[in-house]
Amino acid sequence: MAKLLIKNIGRLQTPVGSYPHAGKAQGENLKLDDAAVFTEDGIIKAITGRTEDGKFRNETLGPDGKAVVTVTDEAPQLTDESDPFLLTMDAGGNLVTPGLVEGHTHMVFGGYRQNEIPLKLKGAGYLDILRAGGGINDTVKKTREATFEELYDKTKGFLDEMMDLGVTTCEAKSGYGIDLESEVKLLEVLKKLNEDHPMDIVSTFMPAHVVLEDWKGKEDEFIDLCINEMFPYVKERGLAEYVDIFTEDSVFDYEQSKRYLQAAKDMGFGLKIHADEIEAIGGSKLAGEMGATSAEHLIVINDEGLESMAKGGTIAMCLPATSFYLNATFAPVRRMIDEFGIPVATATDFNPGSCPSLNLQFVMNLGYLKYRMTPEEVLTAVTINPACGIGRGDKVGTLEAGKAADLVVWNAPNMEMLCYRFGSDLAIQTIKAGVPMRQ
Ligand code: NIG
Ligand code: FE
Repeated sequence: MAKLLIKNIGRLQTPVGSYPHAGKAQGENLKLDDAAVFTEDGIIKAITGRTEDGKFRNETLGPDGKAVVTVTDEAPQLTDESDPFLLTMDAGGNLVTPGLVEGHTHMVFGGYRQNEIPLKLKGAGYLDILRAGGGINDTVKKTREATFEELYDKTKGFLDEMMDLGVTTCEAKSGYGIDLESEVKLLEVLKKLNEDHPMDIVSTFMPAHVVLEDWKGKEDEFIDLCINEMFPYVKERGLAEYVDIFTEDSVFDYEQSKRYLQAAKDMGFGLKIHADEIEAIGGSKLAGEMGATSAEHLIVINDEGLESMAKGGTIAMCLPATSFYLNATFAPVRRMIDEFGIPVATATDFNPGSCPSLNLQFVMNLGYLKYRMTPEEVLTAVTINPACGIGRGDKVGTLEAGKAADLVVWNAPNMEMLCYRFGSDLAIQTIKAGVPMRQ
């Protein structure tokens, strides 16, 4: 019966509702001042705070499991504060938001690739390094050599770091094993960590992440192998909820991606697609046509892709730290929001090549400065929209009675400050399922 009361919240800010927020709704957040939150057994039971008109908006969990909202002149007491089992926390007048949701990572990998930087600085592009047998090929080799225990310990370290930075739910892909046995090793690492670590992890199966040397010219056969052997194995064991593919020049083309995703859909997987990262070869168009849950990157998306995604209800999972690290342009997020009404999520893409950072706070800075999102849109892009992008919109991503007690107390008075300051860790406390994670 863990009970937590967070008092003295200067500003509580959150999107509202469990659906992907698009267009104008992307920038709509509930803002409460002088707020407090009461949580019990990992669930938010009550929230109160002052709205612009000076009155208190109070939300409690009704007996039917639905939230009940009342308005009062004075702040109500949320729980019996003399309860000896109650943990009370003072937020120090700071900002509190939902726990951040990280919607896109490749966090299980062997080795690192710092050796690529001098090549990059001499002008080699991401695909040049990949085509020459480096890049993902290199990480596959090191990942195959790594034991389960080594990968488990390394990934656990990443999860600890992410949680310190304010992330309470994350997505993670396989994709550095490529053969079934090695891919399953990565998914098993994630499964075990999901059980052992407070972080909630949603797994994505991505065997079509690279065309290894022995598969060059036999890409169609590799897709057959994925469809006929790998997908059924992973599905039967419940090792992944989503399937992803790298649809890119020199990797997998439109037709191969379509066949792969259709088979995954028929088997009941959710769909994701790495689309338009370097060349626009139809990936985002395909994402919309297939009704994919999300399409990732979208750096060079064209109007055809934007229209298709809007029609298909696909979430744009934009990865600005990868643009930064590849020295590339930034996805046209303002157009997605203003012209096409596509819900935008932002994530790190944490991986050893194109984004060796797992700092979602830096992604918020880039969302503000490079995508030109408002602080409200930025918050939506790191909470409810990625939550919907990984099938958790009903549980996390907003602060509402009945949802998970996943919150962050920030060393900032408001979202503007959080988006403006960069390079420091501004999370004072990450609360996961009603439990403070920092000692
Ligand atoms: O999303 N583009 C494909 N996959 C990753 C990079 C993986 C790597 O370089 O190791 C990405 O950028
Ligand atoms: Fe990625």
